Amino acid sequence: MRAGFYIRTLAMAAIASFGVYGASAQQPTQDTFVAQGRVFAEKNCGRCHALGDIDPSPHPKAPPFRRVAERYPSENLAEALAEGIVAGHPDMPVFVLRPDEIEKFLAFLDSLGPKTGER
Ligand code: HEC
Repeated sequence: MRAGFYIRTLAMAAIASFGVYGASAQQPTQDTFVAQGRVFAEKNCGRCHALGDIDPSPHPKAPPFRRVAERYPSENLAEALAEGIVAGHPDMPVFVLRPDEIEKFLAFLDSLGPKTGER
């Protein structure tokens, strides 16, 4: 799976350039990333964006993340998240995510991907 490969590449880049997990002998699993990404999204994005499979977004104009996952390849999103998402709308605050946050968030977002056909 291409997306999965990308996440791993991103993880390795994060380790190499920031030493995020360098000190720890424990290798976080993909499941851990997804879970942590979900926690991150709940905390920072959930008051506006739907995080689940069928729930509507709390903010009427914010696209549910299952749709964002469908619309944007995570490659593009990683860049946007690192530089700060600028949606160009007053309701959407500008976020600049740390590399480890991006990695987890995208793992979570990718986990939404395969289910998008069921809407
Ligand atoms: C205060 C409400 C709010 C919060 C919090 C919020 N967003 Fe949004 N977001 C919006 C709205 C509203 C839009 C739709 C803007 C538009 O009309 O295109 C949006 C759009 C987006 C888009 C799509 C942009 C596009 O061009 O289609 C992405 C990706 C996104 N948000 C990611 C995030 C992430 C990641 C977080 C958490 C780190 C987050 N948002 C938190 C309100 C919010």
